[in-house]
Amino acid sequence: MLAFIAKSMAKPVRLVKPVSLAKLPGRYLAHQEGLPCLPVPPLQQTLDKYLLALKPLVSLEEWSLTRVLVEDFRTSGVGERLQKGLERRARKTENWLSEWWLQTAYLEYRMPVVVHSNPGVVLPKQDFEDRQGQLRFAAKLIEGVLDFKTMVDNETLPVEYLGGKPLCMNQYYQMLSSCRIPGPKRDTVANYSQASKPPTHITVVHNFQFFELDVYNSDGTPLTSDQIFTQLEKIWGTSLQTNKEPIGILTTNHRNSWAKAYNNLIKDKTNKESVRTIQKSIFTVCLDAPIPRVSDDLYQSQVAAQMLHGGGSRWNSGNRWFDKTLQFIVAEDGSCGLVYEHAPAEGPPIVALIDHVVEYTKRPELIRSPMMPLPMPKKLRFNITPEIKNDIEKAKQNLNIMVHDLDVKVFVFSVFGKNFPKSEKLSPDAFIQLALQLSYYRMYKQVCATYESASLRMFRLGRTDTIRSASIDSENFVQAMDDPSKQNQEKVDLLRKAVQAHRAYTDMAINGNAIDRHLLGLKLQAIEDLVSMPELFMDTSYAVAMHFNLSTSQVPAKTDCVMCFGPVVPDGYGVCYNPMEDHINFAVSAFNSCAETNAARLAHYLERALCDMQQLVQRTPKSKL
Ligand code: COA
Repeated sequence: MLAFIAKSMAKPVRLVKPVSLAKLPGRYLAHQEGLPCLPVPPLQQTLDKYLLALKPLVSLEEWSLTRVLVEDFRTSGVGERLQKGLERRARKTENWLSEWWLQTAYLEYRMPVVVHSNPGVVLPKQDFEDRQGQLRFAAKLIEGVLDFKTMVDNETLPVEYLGGKPLCMNQYYQMLSSCRIPGPKRDTVANYSQASKPPTHITVVHNFQFFELDVYNSDGTPLTSDQIFTQLEKIWGTSLQTNKEPIGILTTNHRNSWAKAYNNLIKDKTNKESVRTIQKSIFTVCLDAPIPRVSDDLYQSQVAAQMLHGGGSRWNSGNRWFDKTLQFIVAEDGSCGLVYEHAPAEGPPIVALIDHVVEYTKRPELIRSPMMPLPMPKKLRFNITPEIKNDIEKAKQNLNIMVHDLDVKVFVFSVFGKNFPKSEKLSPDAFIQLALQLSYYRMYKQVCATYESASLRMFRLGRTDTIRSASIDSENFVQAMDDPSKQNQEKVDLLRKAVQAHRAYTDMAINGNAIDRHLLGLKLQAIEDLVSMPELFMDTSYAVAMHFNLSTSQVPAKTDCVMCFGPVVPDGYGVCYNPMEDHINFAVSAFNSCAETNAARLAHYLERALCDMQQLVQRTPKSKL
């Protein structure tokens, strides 16, 4: 979903390797080796498509200037030289893009991970309202994650498919036992699952205090939920004071500031050990205080905010380590969800884990034999020097500004779900994207660069490319929709044509032929070759094309949940959706500091656009053409 690329022009350095094939266990090794390598698309094709993609976004005058630059790039030999460089890279690496993408999209990105990079997931409210219920549910959830981990460890996780083709499963090996580590110019991600002694503990946070909880018995079997519950009770009982320094707040800071504070923090041996324990842990569970009460209408949006940032320094933000890849959040009032650090994985594998865990929590309790006493979970100590205290205070201030700035609206569109577009032989995803285009156009009377994530997991170590949802076809449709001089028949024909064009772009993207990562690759190749930056990339049109006012993603789940994430530009929206059979869960975000954007307003327009499009399709017979 992340539409940004790092502004830094520094030469990318390989700091973190994806798990190499040689390290993957046997069965997956065979699976992974059978996957095709990501192709480098033909240069001419990308340049032609780039010019087409710009048409709805820039004026004719700008477009004509850009065409000159594109033709120069095409014919001067510069483009061909860079293309050859990319093709060489593709021959030498498992995936010519994945390492570059990891670095530029994530590890070199300096904005705080909170709101700007880490997505959250809002789970359905659970049926408890007290501490007992909270701990019971958390224990069952932990047991469920460990059950999933067993499938990963034993390689019994079913291979996933998209469009009938098997997908790369590497991200499943990156999600557990991993953590981002701040660095002065770029971060790294450490993954401990392949270590000679893989971790056997998780981290539990309560009242800003961190605990190491061993979740395996000495014979290697995972603890049962009853055992985990008892351990959680002990943790709860020893962390009742609420006046602790929220050390986790440090992870919310701008990455450069956090890197500085981090080096200072780990100078102390005790602090260093505590930080390492968190980083190495399999995952984190945050036992949150009840979230502030709001009306039913606002409840899910409030939970989304809690998942994204924790509500600020006075609420639950100190109850996190935002660099941790997976953090499950269970609050005392029954709200729960997850926040994850994005560098190791995309939403779909995370949500597959959630689907498994949510199903697991519904299983009836087994009657168990009496339990052996377990050691007390270890409290992680931190020595807070005046300098560290100062860093925490500064981080609190910045975080609270971010918290106030985030405008998020979660809602359920209940008029129809995937079922309606399917019954009309239309791609549901394309239909939703068209509704987003229509909403934006109705609000702003213009089209904006729009990003939709497309999976590249058909390829070994594949991550994502961009589906550019704003196209000439989508523009034709949105302009016609409210034009009284147009007949419904023409409107519906334009709608169907735009849906088909979107679906065609999707197929092109998931097959490795979209333009965004290829253009990024050509640009990074120029940096690597130390040649001057081609003008194509310094052009206003390029900046406009990369300024994604709409950053969107479909993250489908079996669970009735929704993922959420922040906008990627100051005047933009983040929109994530989970289309279920008969309804669609949406999360829309924006920044309050931008006077022109408003999450609830876009949500309102989106509901209207979906209904108007349904009525248009239902009232108009299919054209014979
Ligand atoms: N007529 C009838 N049914 C149709 C149809 C048509 N013309 N077109 C599609 N459908 C059906 C599909 O068969 C599918 O059926 P299912 O629900 O039984 O599986 C369903 O409608 C959904 O298809 P569609 O809406 O076209 O989308 P998709 O499932 O192919 O997903 C993407 C499209 C882009 C979301 C997907 O390819 C992708 O890349 N996902 C990953 C995104 C990602 O990584 N996000 C995370 C970022 S953190």
